Amino acid sequence: KAAGSKIAAAGPGPSRRDVELSAAIAAFSVEAPVLSPLIAARAYGSGFYPYSDRPKRKTYQKQLRDLQIELLKLQEWVKAQHERVVIVFEGRDAAGKGGTIHRLVQHLNPRFVRVVALDKPTDAEAGQWYFQRYTAHLPLRGEIAIFDRSWYNRAVIEPVMGFCTPAQTAHFLTQVPTFEKMLVDDGIRLFKIWLDIGREMQLMRLHERHKDPLKRWKLSPVDLAAPARWEPISAARDAMIEASQSPVPWSVVLANDKMRARLGVIRQILAQIPYESRDDGIVGVPDPAIVLDGRTYLG
Ligand code: ADP
Ligand code: MLT
Repeated sequence: KAAGSKIAAAGPGPSRRDVELSAAIAAFSVEAPVLSPLIAARAYGSGFYPYSDRPKRKTYQKQLRDLQIELLKLQEWVKAQHERVVIVFEGRDAAGKGGTIHRLVQHLNPRFVRVVALDKPTDAEAGQWYFQRYTAHLPLRGEIAIFDRSWYNRAVIEPVMGFCTPAQTAHFLTQVPTFEKMLVDDGIRLFKIWLDIGREMQLMRLHERHKDPLKRWKLSPVDLAAPARWEPISAARDAMIEASQSPVPWSVVLANDKMRARLGVIRQILAQIPYESRDDGIVGVPDPAIVLDGRTYLG
C-alpha cells in the first residue's frame, strides 16, 4: 500500500522515537502554542510520501502558469463544444482541496465554471432523494462544475461523524455506480479526485490553521474531529474506492506537497480531455509517484 496509517511493520519493533512520536500524536491539540517538533519533522514524509525534497517554487510557478493557460484552452473547448465537465474533490481534512480548486479556477472565466461547496443538508433536503441536492448543481452545456466535497460525503464524512447510519452508507455505495453511469452515459465527463495526506501532515496543517487568523474559519468541527478518527476515515476511504471504481475510477493524489499535488491534479484532468490544440509537451503525464489510480492505491 502506497500510503496509509500503518507505521512500517519491518524491524524489531517500535523504536524509542516511534514511541515518542505516538505519544506526541496522542497528545496533539490545535490549542497547543507550538507543534511538537517530532510531528513537524515527520510531516513531509508522513503516510509513505515518496519524496523528501521539496520542489523549487519558481519552477512550480512557471509550470502552474503554463498549465493554467492549457486550462483556458480546455474551457474554450468545453464552451464551444457544449461539453459538460464535473470534477469531484474529496479527501482528508486539510488535504488541500480548497487550494487546489483555487488554482484550477484562478484564471478561468467564472461565468462558465462553478465551485459547488454545499453546507450540511437542511431538514427539507434531508428528506429528499440523497442525490437530489447535488444534481441541482450539475453543469449546463459548456460548463465545468467542481464539487468541493460531493455525494461522497455519505461514504466517509457522514458515517464516520455519525451523521448517517451504516445502512445508509452501504445503500449509497451500491447505488453510486448507477448514479454515475447515468451521468457518464448522458455525456458528462466525470473526474473523481481523492487528496490524501499523512497523519503528521494533517496535524501540522490543522495546527497552522488554528494559528492563522486568515485560515481559522476553515477549521470546522469536522476537521477538529478528524485526528481522533484517523483509522475509521482510512477504512471508509478504502471501502469507498473499492465500491466506486466504476464507471469512473478514482485518482488518489498524495498531497503532502501542495505544489506537486496541484500540478498533478491539473495534469490528470487536462491529459484526459481531447480539447483543441492541447500542448502535450506542457500537459505531460501526471507524476505516477503521487497520482495513483484507485485500484493501484488500494494495492
Ligand atoms: P470542509 O472540510 O469541506 O471545509 P467541513 O469540515 O465544515 O467542511 O464539513 C465537512 C463536510 O461535512 C461538509 O460537506 C459538510 O456539509 C458536512 N457536514 C457537516 N455537518 C453535517 C451534518 N450534521 N450532516 C451532514 N453533513 C454534515
Ligand atoms: C483543505 O485544505 O482545503 C481541506 O481539504 C478542506 C478542509 O479540510 O477543511
